Amino acid sequence: MAKITISHLNKMKQAGEKITMLTSYDASMTRLAETAGVDTLLVGDSLGMVIQGHGSTLPVSVDDMVYHTATVARVSQSAMVIADMPFMSHGTQQQALDTAGRLMKEGGAEMVKIEGGAPQVETVRHLTERAVPVCGHLGLMPQSIHQLGGYRVQGKEAQAADQMIADALALQAAGAQMLVLECIPQALAQSITQELAIPVIGIGAGKDTDGQVLVCYDMLGMSVNRIPSFVKNFLADTGSVQEALSAYVSAVRAGEFPAAEHIPA
Ligand code: KIV
Repeated sequence: MAKITISHLNKMKQAGEKITMLTSYDASMTRLAETAGVDTLLVGDSLGMVIQGHGSTLPVSVDDMVYHTATVARVSQSAMVIADMPFMSHGTQQQALDTAGRLMKEGGAEMVKIEGGAPQVETVRHLTERAVPVCGHLGLMPQSIHQLGGYRVQGKEAQAADQMIADALALQAAGAQMLVLECIPQALAQSITQELAIPVIGIGAGKDTDGQVLVCYDMLGMSVNRIPSFVKNFLADTGSVQEALSAYVSAVRAGEFPAAEHIPA
């Protein structure tokens, strides 16, 4: 089975075909998600909350990310594997390169994801100029939760929205090849998706992004945390994990997820 690459995802954006992304932290979920036809697997630092039981993603270490990325990449046959750069693992350009190097060489990641806008632009440039594919992450950035003061919709005010559009363009200009938008108004996500040439994946960002991502344990209704209102429980109507993952893929591809009730006000 051929691996999905960034060229494939770019073509999907150009053709208006929705991209499916799901988090995975282990071999079994990876196998099920790929059987369902998921395009990209994100080894998210959300593992700190749903696997490790922490109250935030902040305690997750580079070793944790390398370990889980390797368990995913080892069995992955089709989806593109993206790994999160955890909190405090990319404070300097050299540290970012060291972290990304470990995630790719030891973990087998095919892209790394970094939270942050303008302050991360030079780091993104440093990585992409050295053959590290990067996905940006704007909007609700869980690593900044103590600065943000809670898990709530970002970019509601005009100034914050303008800044997010500028950040998205700057990340793309620095070489980012994909962008995740988390918990922002649908209209803002639509504008950013239209402005950018790279694929934009949304979570709690409405239906107009190029694709959708969910935390796998949330969409199976089995998370220890409060499940956000933008998540649908796909296991409730299906009856098996495999069918739930397939239903998610079909619903995203058909533009049926997110529905109106999953779009933040
Ligand atoms: O860590 C994660 O799972 C994420 C997604 C929520 C996008 O960053």
